[in-house]
Amino acid sequence: MSLPNWFTPTERPSFVRFTEEFVGRDHVHALQLGAFAGDVTCWLLEHVLTGMGSSIDDVDTWGGSTNADERGLDFATVEARYDLRTASFSADGRLRKWKCASAAFFAALPEDRTYDLIVVDADHHAASVLEDAIAAFHHLAPNGVMLLNHYTWTSPEGLFASPRIGIDAFCAVYANQLEVLERGTGVWLRRRGGGDLKLVVGGDPAAVG
Ligand SMILES: C[S@@+](CC[C@H](N)C(=O)[O-])C[C@H]1O[C@@H](n2cnc3c(N)ncnc32)[C@H](O)[C@@H]1O
Repeated sequence: MSLPNWFTPTERPSFVRFTEEFVGRDHVHALQLGAFAGDVTCWLLEHVLTGMGSSIDDVDTWGGSTNADERGLDFATVEARYDLRTASFSADGRLRKWKCASAAFFAALPEDRTYDLIVVDADHHAASVLEDAIAAFHHLAPNGVMLLNHYTWTSPEGLFASPRIGIDAFCAVYANQLEVLERGTGVWLRRRGGGDLKLVVGGDPAAVG
């Protein structure tokens, strides 16, 4: 069964650009919400998370979803493909697989756990993307980098089933705590470092990004 690969044709150049700072660095920790068949996982582990003690946590239901671009896929096959391709990374402890919904993952995650790099690519409904983005941002290290994926993808079911308004809402409300690095097929951003940025006043979210 041939499976879609969203990573190779369109997303890879941005991944190369915005993960460059982490390449070969020791103790870089990544989190991916929505791992599918492991395309991003394998690329990150082979090209970026190559330093000592670097790792990735992958979260996916592997149970199918209501995203219009995934309907009709056999998720048992997707998960089997993921397991096969990532077996060596799991064995050497660089990859941890979490088979659960993103909300359940965050509910169980220790509050002080932080990641340097986060990919948000799970349920594409606007409300889910917004919830994932907020939860993930609380675990993004200062100066950490986050991708909110599929910004330009529109579901045939319309606005509320598509990521864009969720991503725009997140970027507007958190504008004083982040810097938008790129707004393309996904939105890449960096968490600003240092201080309690929630206390910054007078900024205009509409002017950011
Ligand atoms: C677009 S695919 C991810 C692609 C992957 N990032 C890549 O580029 O290789 C979206 C994935 O999100 C998963 N998913 C959907 N809803 C989810 C949820 N609430 N929590 C965790 N994963 C979810 C689906 O099972 C699917 O595998």
